[in-house]
Amino acid sequence: MQVFVILPAAGLGTRMAGPQPKQFLALDGVPILIHSLRAFAAVPRVSAIYVAVRKTEMERVQQQIGEHGFTGRVCVVEGGDTRQQSVSNALNALPAERDDIVLVHDGVRPLIEAATIERTIDAVAEQGAAIVGVPAVDTIKQVERTAHGALITATIPREYIVLAQTPQGFRYGLLRDAFAEALADGFVGTDEASLVERAGNPVAVVHGSQVNLKITQPGDLELAEFYLRQRGR
Ligand code: CTP
Ligand code: MG
Repeated sequence: MQVFVILPAAGLGTRMAGPQPKQFLALDGVPILIHSLRAFAAVPRVSAIYVAVRKTEMERVQQQIGEHGFTGRVCVVEGGDTRQQSVSNALNALPAERDDIVLVHDGVRPLIEAATIERTIDAVAEQGAAIVGVPAVDTIKQVERTAHGALITATIPREYIVLAQTPQGFRYGLLRDAFAEALADGFVGTDEASLVERAGNPVAVVHGSQVNLKITQPGDLELAEFYLRQRGR
């Protein structure tokens, strides 16, 4: 059984509004995407890593991969206009068998820990599908959007809420089928689990951590620098 990793990194980083897409911004002097790559390259069970980037960035990423000594286990593929399309393109390029494991991880979650990756792989091997998630700490309100702003319609008990992170891991066959079904139905989701859930499959949750943040908006980079310094101690 092989383990493949897909890193979607073809986004534009609109919310970050940086000088370039956030996956290329430096964190401790190294591009965010390279931090994410390093984390998976450090896990011996990982056979190969597929990075999906915009066509115009393919050359630059290929070069960065070489500079950081990752050639061999890393392939660069062309991303698409949605995250789902980027992952789909990478899935189509994988030389995987149905029983192999595929982990999908946001290219912009540079602080993922090896132990969490290992636990996700173990959970997928046992249960077929598993994602990293963290319990909600705030009280969750469901709202209705009105002309005067949001109005609360319900309070959702916190114990039923988990915030989804990545990696999200699946048996290759299960994930391929879920992607094909979503495509046929015109469904576009913001994560892989939502596709697998709607296909009727159970998905387990592995405990993550707040440290595994997704660099999304200004300020997140400083927070990531802080976590990185803490780790170095
Ligand atoms: N992603 C991708 N292809 C897309 C859109 C997103 O591969 N067409 C990737 C991003 O590069 C990122 C991950 O999916 O690694 C999570 O997406 P998100 O945080 O939404 O990043 P962006 O789409 O770049 O940011 P924004 O939504 O603010 O524009
Ligand atoms: Mg986005």
